[in-house]
Amino acid sequence: MKKLGFIIIRKPFSAHTHLRQGKELADVLPSSNIYGAVVCMGNIQPPVSDFQGVRKYRAEIIRQNPQFLPILTLMLTKDTTAETLKRAREEGIRVVKFMPDAATTNALSGITLPDLEKFYPVIGEIKRLNMIFSGHWELAVDPKTGKEIPYSEREEAALPYFDKLVKAFPNMNIIFEHVSTAAAVEFIKATPANVAATITAHHISKTHKDVFGADGKIIDPHYFCYPVLKKEGDRLAVASAYANPKFFFGPDDAPHPKERKMGDKPAGGIFSPAFIALPTVLEVCEELGLVEHFERFVSLRGPTFYDLQPPPEKESRSRYCRQRRQY
Ligand code: DOR
Ligand code: ZN
Repeated sequence: MKKLGFIIIRKPFSAHTHLRQGKELADVLPSSNIYGAVVCMGNIQPPVSDFQGVRKYRAEIIRQNPQFLPILTLMLTKDTTAETLKRAREEGIRVVKFMPDAATTNALSGITLPDLEKFYPVIGEIKRLNMIFSGHWELAVDPKTGKEIPYSEREEAALPYFDKLVKAFPNMNIIFEHVSTAAAVEFIKATPANVAATITAHHISKTHKDVFGADGKIIDPHYFCYPVLKKEGDRLAVASAYANPKFFFGPDDAPHPKERKMGDKPAGGIFSPAFIALPTVLEVCEELGLVEHFERFVSLRGPTFYDLQPPPEKESRSRYCRQRRQY
């Protein structure tokens, strides 16, 4: 029987959550209260892509829970202009999220990775306004052959586009969301301090064997997400990156209704609420002998990168049981 213990840390920070809308929002919001602050992705319908959308979504969240302070993101779309960004910035938005079309659930951007360069003038405004460029880095279709790239190879295939962006915009704050491969971890480690990456609980605790059978078919849709879970070597490389100050916690809590997860083509996204994700991270930290980095990883580095006040030292400490991981 595993011995249970506990650890006391300052309020954790979720740098990547999908709160959804309507009833789903009501269902998932309470579990996000555990966090001191939550970065909420705007890939709802219609996407949060201008200041009116920001106001509407913020009001919907706050109506459900007036105490909750969401950090909203503006979705980069093919219609985003310098003016869109300026108005969003005036509305208090700090983060612009890029989800390439065809790569993930509800991307709706109209921009593919090979197209991204065409949007560099708009991205220049993101930098000028001192906003954060948060990206989903996966290439779904090979631009040379027009063929779909296998899920497991998409993140690595996106690295040249990421590299180009990092070089084109020195000093812009850039996040590589939900890093899932050893190759990307190595790449990010070599970038300057303005570049960081988030890590989920699922990419460090599970592998592709938990999702796909030997024939490549999905055996457990609840573990199907973008980017897909990778091999054991990738899991270990990503988990070991806790110890590096460039990496912080972004659980990518992405719930879907049961009927969307259980059909022939399950929606990508893992329900990973705080009460599961945090003990999971702690357990993996423990396995790797990295517990000393846990508080920095889940509570401190995220707010620092987002230029927020770190959570107060005393009043808002949280207790987490080390419990058996139960997904
Ligand atoms: O698995 C994912 N689900 N990855 C994403 O990038 C989007 C998310 C969602 O919104 O369901
Ligand atoms: Zn996400």
